[in-house]
Amino acid sequence: MKASAPGKIILFGEHAVVYGRPALAVPVTQVHAEVEILPSRDGKIWVDAPGIALHATLDSLPPGNPIASILHNLSNSLDISSLPPFEIRINSSIPVAAGLGSGAAVSVAILRALSAYANHSLSDEQINQYAYEIEKLHHGTPSGIDNSVVTYAQPVYFVRGKPLEIFTVGAPFSLVIADTGVPAPTKESVGDVRKLWEADRDRWEKVFDEIGGIVNEARDAIQQGKTHDLGRLMDANHALLQQLTVSSDALDHLTEAARKSGAMGAKLSGGGRGGNMIALVDRENAAHVAERLVSEGAKHTIITEIR
Ligand code: PMV
Repeated sequence: MKASAPGKIILFGEHAVVYGRPALAVPVTQVHAEVEILPSRDGKIWVDAPGIALHATLDSLPPGNPIASILHNLSNSLDISSLPPFEIRINSSIPVAAGLGSGAAVSVAILRALSAYANHSLSDEQINQYAYEIEKLHHGTPSGIDNSVVTYAQPVYFVRGKPLEIFTVGAPFSLVIADTGVPAPTKESVGDVRKLWEADRDRWEKVFDEIGGIVNEARDAIQQGKTHDLGRLMDANHALLQQLTVSSDALDHLTEAARKSGAMGAKLSGGGRGGNMIALVDRENAAHVAERLVSEGAKHTIITEIR
């Protein structure tokens, strides 16, 4: 029994999305999490994740272990102990703590593989709900955007607590995603934004409104195939994220380097202070911008086409 789920990237609206503004995110299919369920050889439930050097029985893992907690959480709907014992093998090419949705993708792939193994089909809506519960265990107050885009594997316009909207891409466009190599401390940056907001709600609500306005403009531009407008919107969104104190020297340096090497716009993506930035590029210029970003310190790049 095998299942997989893609990575994701937030195009616009991170942080403000926690405060009810919209955000846009898309799947990144160049990276994914893969889960395989095999019959156990010794009657115990085994968890095998070579990427993080994990090979242990489920009952030996502390309850706070992310994979153990997914399995325990699932038991509300599936009685795992009633299933024939299994080994769960997890492989993921999605960099961890980089804003690419690695945790959500692993959760979704586990949920899909195990529900299939149990012959208990779960709708995308149920998968999404479970994956959100798991996100909450690890991130405190997540907006739910990661689990949504990873579950549906389509471009999403997301507003917390509202039905998910899938949006169409009028004309394909290319992005270079570049990793600073610094783990993004999302929980911390989300907490720091909350402190700013608590100290001066009027000021930061205006910033969130501005970000929300950018997101709506960006959605219209994407749907109408007016890709060139997105560069300016990315730059404007990045500047507002700087005000929110969630950028970093490395992110500012890479966004600037991308613009200088011909990108139409660039911004950090996700929680910030590390993790990834994205740059909007012409397809012909993508490899050049990616190389430039590596020479300016990026640890890893992905070129992806959004369609
Ligand atoms: O770092 P990521 O890609 O998981 O994104 C975090 C996005 C935030 O808006 C900062 C938080 C959230 O839960 O939406």
